[in-house]
Amino acid sequence: MNLELINKDINDINVDIKIEFLTQDELSLHVESDLLNKTGFKSEQDSTCFLHEKETLFCGVDSKKADDIRSACVSVVKALKASNYESAKLNIPKNESLTGLVEGLVLGAYEFNEYKSKPKEVSLKNIVLCSDNYDEAKNIFDEALIVANATCFTRDIVNTAPQELNPQTLAHLAEKLARDNNLECNILQEDALEKENMGSMLAVGRASVHGSALIHLSYKPANPKKIISLIGKGLTYDSGGLSLKPAASMVTMKMDKAGACAVLGMIKAVSELKLDIEVHAFVGAVENMIGGNAYKPDDVLVSRSGTTIEVRNTDAEGRLVLADVLTYAQDTVKADRIFDFATLTGACMVALGQYTTGLMGHSHKLKHDLSKAATASGELMGSLPFNKHLKKLLKSEIADISNVASKPYGGAITAGMFLDNFIQEENKNKWMHFDIAGSAYTETPWDCNVYGGTGAGVRLISHYLKNL
Ligand code: BES
Ligand code: ZN
Ligand code: ZN
Repeated sequence: MNLELINKDINDINVDIKIEFLTQDELSLHVESDLLNKTGFKSEQDSTCFLHEKETLFCGVDSKKADDIRSACVSVVKALKASNYESAKLNIPKNESLTGLVEGLVLGAYEFNEYKSKPKEVSLKNIVLCSDNYDEAKNIFDEALIVANATCFTRDIVNTAPQELNPQTLAHLAEKLARDNNLECNILQEDALEKENMGSMLAVGRASVHGSALIHLSYKPANPKKIISLIGKGLTYDSGGLSLKPAASMVTMKMDKAGACAVLGMIKAVSELKLDIEVHAFVGAVENMIGGNAYKPDDVLVSRSGTTIEVRNTDAEGRLVLADVLTYAQDTVKADRIFDFATLTGACMVALGQYTTGLMGHSHKLKHDLSKAATASGELMGSLPFNKHLKKLLKSEIADISNVASKPYGGAITAGMFLDNFIQEENKNKWMHFDIAGSAYTETPWDCNVYGGTGAGVRLISHYLKNL
């Protein structure tokens, strides 16, 4: 589906159907209010009504604010895709809601059909947008489209099946992104990871037939205002390892690479937005499998930082990978911000629900700024607080630290506090950890998310970096 902004009056555009958003107040004043009333249309948020003879599709909204328009656009695009209309037009209610509008249309229309032999045919080809203030709208539109497309890019990788997407193919995909977007790319294969003393990360991938890889992409504009490191958990499959997941919990674990996919989407967006910020994306691409050479509960790993880790559960593997990738990232780049994204714990969903990203770290200022960015970008995020009592639960009798806490409560926080052990002293207030276990993937549609990967984090960080 093509989306374009045209510098013309809406009445001069010749398409199949027009879209109108109506609040309840506007409904009673509308010229078609009698007809709409007969259909039972009450202009409730997200409800739609075709008046085919008037060549108009109406959609109810509570307000013309971005969140309501985004959500309404999802209903609109679903209704259009179920019809035989090929082209539609709409007037942008106001430029403040334009980003939401673009996101609703693009992300709500998203489908992943790679594995369907006969994808459903859709007539809808083109949606044309008009604005009363084209010059201002143009820039907002272009930027919103870049971010929405980067979100779809992230979704595509998350949705790709694990027999196709393994650490090596993820590395190839990153190389292609680097070529397409003019990024620097450095890939460390297992022999290099060995030399770099990444014993914690290497242990997790040892039983996989696919070699682990650390992917480092950089976007380096001239005279950058800030330097940002983004780190992603890239478990292309998480079987749980020898602490094997129960069958039902293993389904969807192709999504354990969503943090990696998100940081690739973020660097894609930033480079296309041409922001004057240097961005580094570090991905730990690993597959957590079983086998005779698998790492095991009771193993003691030596991480890159030298900290030794007692393995008590091989399913708490993401933190083992991130421990080394975080250390590598800090050793390689002196960044102003260090953000990691990971589908790290089921406990985060218990704490916040499956729609909300968990935010952890030491800096109240960063938490505040990022929470504001989340609200503005339409993503849900909640802060989970560290405390010294939970920290004690990670003590090990045999090594420096255990990879799981001795008590189950606060599992998202103890996982975040495990990572904190690998944040160097001078970086404590630069680091934030985003647990996207719930928000990165869905099996039931919500907001502008359809079945599968949601692209959580991409809109949020693009917005944050744009306004830095
Ligand atoms: N990848 C999982 C976390 C996860 C669970 C993400 C469900 C998305 C949906 C992670 O590696 C894991 O298995 N964590 C364990 C940690 C536990 C063993 C301390 C968990 O959450 O149960
Ligand atoms: Zn796991
Ligand atoms: Zn995992």
